[in-house]
Amino acid sequence: MSLVNLAAILRRSQAGGWAVGAFNGNNLEIIQAIIRAAEAEAAPVVIQASQGAIKYAELPYIAALALEAARRARVPVAVHLDHGTSWSQVVRCVRAGFSSVMIDGSHLPLEENIGLTRRVVELARPVDVSVEAELGRIGGTEDDITVDAREAFFTDPDEAAYFVQATEVDALAVAIGTAHGLYRGTPRLDFDRLTRIRERVPTPLVLHGSSGVPADAIREAIGRGVCKVNIDTDIRQAFTGKLRAVLAAAPEEIDPRKVLGPAREAAVEVIREKIRLFGGSGRAKEI
Ligand code: G3H
Ligand code: ZN
Repeated sequence: MSLVNLAAILRRSQAGGWAVGAFNGNNLEIIQAIIRAAEAEAAPVVIQASQGAIKYAELPYIAALALEAARRARVPVAVHLDHGTSWSQVVRCVRAGFSSVMIDGSHLPLEENIGLTRRVVELARPVDVSVEAELGRIGGTEDDITVDAREAFFTDPDEAAYFVQATEVDALAVAIGTAHGLYRGTPRLDFDRLTRIRERVPTPLVLHGSSGVPADAIREAIGRGVCKVNIDTDIRQAFTGKLRAVLAAAPEEIDPRKVLGPAREAAVEVIREKIRLFGGSGRAKEI
């Protein structure tokens, strides 16, 4: 199939009561794993470039890898900027050919978040690029961005309704109790809040920090209106866990391909599991 914008996928996932898996592609092997998993499941998928990936690999490399992967894929793929930090970064991603961007103004006062997000929508919409924004603050650490538990706060349903009306975004990331990175205990999601947001907000909702969230809670969140689920940490764990195991079993190995290949396969497996859990399997033909 090929590169599609996020909104096209979300229209179908919202109507069908499933969620698209959005996976952070940190390097060649993980980007290939995302595509292999999506093709094996015949599922649409989102490849995300996180701030850490951009810093590690540089945007032109990540863009080239992700866009080539999308073009060659037999399933619909959106290439998306994750937690975009500025107007200029969004412009660089749109220019590089991304089909979707997130602008994360969640640390700003409400009206400033609206102003920045609105400007991004005005840039992106005429060139058919989707826009995700965030309201409320999701705790935890994603790459270099850490949101202290005291700073994290949940999305207010009325504010969310006002925000999506003012910005006309294609997707809204909500803070309902998930956090980026590893959880110390079992995360408890505020499902009532999610339902109250859903009642007021027609825009597809996004769940961040979804690694380590129990399967039942993910299903419940999707049942209550989440249409896109973001996963990074679970892939990293599977990938580096396999690297460690391979190197422990063959400490003399010097061929990077011999250790990265099995790690890529481990990533494929975890991504396939997530796609199945989110209900995305077999949905490629719907887009
Ligand atoms: O934006 C990316 C995600 O929210 C990933 O969160 O590392 O907790 O899965 P995670
Ligand atoms: Zn996130």
